[in-house]
Amino acid sequence: MSSGKAFSHSRIAILDFGSQYTQVIARRVRECRVYSEILPHHASAKRLSDFVGIILSGGPASVFSAAAPKLDPAIFSLGVPILGICYGVQLMAFHLGGSVEFSDRREYGAGSIKIVGQSDLFQSLPSEFQVWNSHGDKVTALPPGFRAIGETENSPYAAVEDTNRRLFGLQFHPEVAHTPLGKEVLENFLYRVCGCKPNWTMGSFIEETCQEIRNKVQDDKVVLGLSGGVDSSVAAALIHRAIGDQLTCIFVNNGLLRAREAETVQKFFGENFRIRLKYVDASERFLGRLVGVTDPEHKRKIIGEEFIRVFETSTKELTAENEQGRRYRYLAQGTLYPDVIESVAIDGNPAAVIKSHHNVGGLPEKMHFELLEPLRQLFKDEVRQVGLELDLPKEIVFRQPFPGPGLAVRVVGEVTEERLRILRQADEIVVSEMKVADWYYKVWQSFAVLLPVRSVGVMGDQRTYENTVALRIVESQDGMTADWVRVPYEILARISSRISNEVKGVNRVCYDISSKPPSTIEWE
Ligand code: XMP
Repeated sequence: MSSGKAFSHSRIAILDFGSQYTQVIARRVRECRVYSEILPHHASAKRLSDFVGIILSGGPASVFSAAAPKLDPAIFSLGVPILGICYGVQLMAFHLGGSVEFSDRREYGAGSIKIVGQSDLFQSLPSEFQVWNSHGDKVTALPPGFRAIGETENSPYAAVEDTNRRLFGLQFHPEVAHTPLGKEVLENFLYRVCGCKPNWTMGSFIEETCQEIRNKVQDDKVVLGLSGGVDSSVAAALIHRAIGDQLTCIFVNNGLLRAREAETVQKFFGENFRIRLKYVDASERFLGRLVGVTDPEHKRKIIGEEFIRVFETSTKELTAENEQGRRYRYLAQGTLYPDVIESVAIDGNPAAVIKSHHNVGGLPEKMHFELLEPLRQLFKDEVRQVGLELDLPKEIVFRQPFPGPGLAVRVVGEVTEERLRILRQADEIVVSEMKVADWYYKVWQSFAVLLPVRSVGVMGDQRTYENTVALRIVESQDGMTADWVRVPYEILARISSRISNEVKGVNRVCYDISSKPPSTIEWE
């Protein structure tokens, strides 16, 4: 959490050369219960010297291109084991005196590798196994000190090593699921070559992090903006475990919440979990400022600004209420690892650019808080595991993402009390039917959107002229890309008929069959 700490677990550095798989490598390493960190490709040898192993990711560039991402060649003399994957092995050959041949034809897809000789990297693996390739250039002559340890039809140097310097290279991708024994290869690198122990567990993370939080916070107070989402809920539970009542959570009702959300969060965190919770009902303020506003960006800006104001006032009130009059020194946030990975865009690869995140709408620096971000080392699935270990219920730990500006970005056009009422009821039906059908936890998000479109319908003998609801059900890994889910027609039919029958003001339901890109997940 803080820099310069003493690490009780060994750490692996993954240098990012713009591969779409860099985060996959980091997660695979963590699945082996070894802690890994992604660093930019140009991280200096000095910075890398306290890692026990280094992995060079693949990447789309050619080592011959002037714009190719470079590394600090001094890392090869650190004495730290290095595993180069794909572009990583080409860099090794390029820097250490081998040859790489340029090719504008990619070798892409499944192949098989034959092991030659003995290597720690392939211990206990069969003499031939399936691998996944995705590369253009290839190594055509080995640097001095290297030998081949695996070959494919297309290359005698599909896997190479320098035993003395403990440098390894793989032309294939061990991190992807299409290399079924890839995890064993990575385990061999981590456990046999780097000497790591599988001791990075969420249990040990909780213990260590609680201790760090206590050391850092001492007798001071911490405030956290609780949204009821997974990240802020887990952060709250973890900090509460560490410092109890020194933590106060602020839950702002902005009037744009889902049905019963305010009650549920208060009941769970306040009553069951006994976390100090300040509930602020600011719905009138938010809705007042949104009157007449239809532009999506304008809505978001208003909500962000208003949130800051409410949060500022609430922390001032907290300080005044505080017995010793001590101000809240720390602001806790549920920032996750993918939000803080130091990354650089390579060849315009958007996967490598830091995803902008919307934590509590960007509180102003003048609030003079110090930040406490205990989850900043974790991926989402790890955060969920931590949540379960801290006894948060499945309904919170596995709940779907919900945007900060709430239902405002799902009421397309002007946000009014009446339109929010319609959307809340429709949304509640979507969520409950998805849960009953056992689909809610299988998809990334499933929700209703209220469109500014009215159309003609017929109910009984009456002509109606009412609103349209769109259903959005998507699958996604991280929200960056998404596809609409092919849910069974019966579920769509039930949701549609319930919404048209039960929600007053709706006579038509449509299913959104757009992927992201070119659409986005939310409608605004
Ligand atoms: P889009 O609509 O950009 O959404 O495809 C991608 C993911 O991000 C969520 N989202 C937000 N989350 N504050 C948030 O905390 C926001 O302002 C926000 N806008 C979108 C969205 O629900 C989806 O999961």
